[in-house]
Amino acid sequence: MLEAVAAVEAMEGYSAPLEGRRGLLRLDFNENTLGPSPKVVEAIRAIPAEHYAIYPEYAGLAECYAASAGCRAEQVGLFNGVDAAILAVFLAFGGAGDVLLTTTPTFGYYGPCAQQRGMTVQAIPYEGEQFAFPLAAIGDALGQEPSVLMVCNPNNPTGTRLSPGQLLALARRAPRTLVVVDELYEAFSGDSVLPGSLALPNVLVLRSLSKTAGIAGLRVGFGIGDPGLIERLRRVTGPYDINAFGVAAAFAALADQAYVDAYVREVLAAKAWLTTRLARAGIRHHSSAGNFLLIWPEGDAEAVVQNLREAGILVRSMAGKPLIDGSFRVSIGTRPQMERFWQALVSCG
Ligand SMILES: Cc1ncc(COP(=O)(O)O)c(C=O)c1O
Repeated sequence: MLEAVAAVEAMEGYSAPLEGRRGLLRLDFNENTLGPSPKVVEAIRAIPAEHYAIYPEYAGLAECYAASAGCRAEQVGLFNGVDAAILAVFLAFGGAGDVLLTTTPTFGYYGPCAQQRGMTVQAIPYEGEQFAFPLAAIGDALGQEPSVLMVCNPNNPTGTRLSPGQLLALARRAPRTLVVVDELYEAFSGDSVLPGSLALPNVLVLRSLSKTAGIAGLRVGFGIGDPGLIERLRRVTGPYDINAFGVAAAFAALADQAYVDAYVREVLAAKAWLTTRLARAGIRHHSSAGNFLLIWPEGDAEAVVQNLREAGILVRSMAGKPLIDGSFRVSIGTRPQMERFWQALVSCG
């Protein structure tokens, strides 16, 4: 077998248990549990088959997103999901021997992207029972001028929030570090570093249509930042990375913000309902921002995850993750879906 480059030989890939999920209640990937707006479905159905033969066109999409995000089109980069934006960050800004500064536990794709570039990952743990953001430690580590600081805000999976003001203050202290703020779950917390971050040339904000807009399968994500930064990311991105279905779906999803807002309201209400049940039952859990929370079941967490699967419900085991081993993460859907989850948990937990 041919060996890959040394950095790739030395790393492990990001693995997510993605198969066999259809037909089950999917509370394992923080997706929209209802699917996209009917307007998205209409837009996709309206694509004539002859257009499948043409490479996708992106005219107007950056403008459309810019209008919804309150920025200019040249401050928007288009990506095949935020995953592709994360990879582009490391292709453009991560060199061998450079440092990625981040937190732990956090989204699992940052590390492999940095490692494949031969970078060192410095991951600082969240603090205490409430998984507070390690502000002082991150501030100190920024003094070493790492190439990239990745902050997931609110953080997946702990839900930890850092205020936009604190994040921007960190970025101001480290003008030679690219500060990436992954705002995938911002709709559920309401705090974004935008628009303040647009004044700082070293801050990139990541947003996606995967979760709230319900088109994870169509892969559309955005990077928002300084035009020079966006242009560097474009240099390392394939010319047709987002396919034509994703483009059509993105226009339609962005035109139906009311659908997303209604879903977010529904999720927040269902989350409040579930946390009340967990608290009353005395089940250890951690609920902060985001459309997910962590649960430490009484018995063996792995067995509970398996029992839930047998009941047709998928949740994400956090086995082996620093600080949260022994828990599982449950994504929040609608109230009826969470009632079903709760019944199953009570009978098998
Ligand atoms: C924090 C975070 N960032 C990025 C992603 C990937 O998003 P996308 O589907 O846009 O690639 C996820 C998906 O789970 C995530 O949780």
